[in-house]
Amino acid sequence: MAVTQATLPTPAVTAPPGVAQDVLRKTGVAVVFFGPDGRPLAEGGAAAAVAAPPPGAVAAEDPASRLAREALARGEEQFEIGQGAIRSAWVLGPRSRGVAVAVGELAITGRESLDVGRRLLAAVGETVRARVRETATCLENEAASESLLQSFEEVSLLHHLGEVLRVNRSEEDLLERICRELRDTIDAEATAAYLPGQGGAGPRTIVVGRLPFAAADVARVVDHLLEGMGREPPLLINNHCQDDPLLAHLAPGLRRVVLVPLPVADGLRGALMAANRTGEEFGSPDAKLVRSTASAGTIFVENRRLFRELQEMMLDLVRALVSSVDAKDPYTCGHSERVAIISRRIAACLRLPDDDVELVYLAGLLHDIGKIGTPESILRKEGRLGPEERLTIMQHCEVGFNILSGIHKLESAREVVLLHHERLDGTGYPRGLKGDQIPLLARIVGLADSFDAMTSNRPYRPMLPLDQVRREIERHTGTQFDSRAVEALLGMNLEQVLVELESRPKVSLQ
Ligand SMILES: [Fe+2]
Repeated sequence: MAVTQATLPTPAVTAPPGVAQDVLRKTGVAVVFFGPDGRPLAEGGAAAAVAAPPPGAVAAEDPASRLAREALARGEEQFEIGQGAIRSAWVLGPRSRGVAVAVGELAITGRESLDVGRRLLAAVGETVRARVRETATCLENEAASESLLQSFEEVSLLHHLGEVLRVNRSEEDLLERICRELRDTIDAEATAAYLPGQGGAGPRTIVVGRLPFAAADVARVVDHLLEGMGREPPLLINNHCQDDPLLAHLAPGLRRVVLVPLPVADGLRGALMAANRTGEEFGSPDAKLVRSTASAGTIFVENRRLFRELQEMMLDLVRALVSSVDAKDPYTCGHSERVAIISRRIAACLRLPDDDVELVYLAGLLHDIGKIGTPESILRKEGRLGPEERLTIMQHCEVGFNILSGIHKLESAREVVLLHHERLDGTGYPRGLKGDQIPLLARIVGLADSFDAMTSNRPYRPMLPLDQVRREIERHTGTQFDSRAVEALLGMNLEQVLVELESRPKVSLQ
């Protein structure tokens, strides 16, 4: 398998192209460049390549090579006269990296030309040094520019992820957004996240774009790629996938891939991958982006898990608290949970934001929490309530509102608790608000509350048939109930809703 372990590119200055020919043409001085190991270098070629000496240059094992090695060993410029020529070896310094020494050789014909020749060599030496410095600076600038661009892309990607990732989204939604942002950034034909099954849940694959093989094969492809991946750094770039027979069999359309493992519990590994790109091969900058994205995604998924655990714990506490209220009246046992579930369904039908759907569930659970202060003799009374008793029970809205004050996490639900008995025509309580003065979530909980009351047995009457419930709700739409919420509720299969509510696990202190 053609696998590349990614490293950041380091610019290496090769012999500056054209310099040797230029100097030879203008001065008659033959120049050869040498690497740090004393081997001659080709102009503009790879730093470690064996030289193809420019026309007129000295050969590899001649005095120029020997003089270059001496200059390298001593770390200073060398000069010699011999074999009808004068030579200088110039040490080019650390900034040049790939090229370490240049040797210039000039043929001499007589004593008079020696001084002139030395001065000419010295001038050529300055020119060569200047050109090497220039090339080094140019490459450093290009590398810095490339590095800056990569950093910008990485920061930009992480910034976008920070904007779109929210811990209250589903894990699939998080991964889908991660894949989409990554694909847009590195211009891959497809990106995919794969998480192996765990804790009774099956494996999950999220794909964005056109994956060049069946999504059902992602697990096997990922497993195979993970097997061939090194541990440090834990990533893989393969730009020749079809050279691997097994990979060619598993994913015949896969040409290029960059993959980073996603840690999963119990030592399992998932993966985030980008597949195929027209033109440019995948390289270290792409791997760096995938790795950064995977890291950000892993943190968000873990944060989401912790957020969910905390949320569940809070809901369990709220349910326990609420069941202690429901327990005061055996006829209304489970009422709060049913109102919460119905409210959430209505909100979901109305396509309210996810935050509001969760909030209305919480508010539904808590809507009657104020009845914790209502005497059981009133709550359990089988006959009609007297005026005093009615006033007492009406206080549960304010009592609940006050109970929840100071609990920051429940602040948003307080308003619904206070206003769930308001009516659109202003005849409700405790404020007598009208129409749009009543928040939509309070109107939803008010409707769910009435629906559950009508479909439950009460001390003074049995539950009403569903047809009668529908008629009652329609009769009070626009005066008591919000028309949009009514439309959402009556649009449901209410027989099925009642069956589901009845068969759900009960939470009760009784
Ligand atoms: Fe109530």
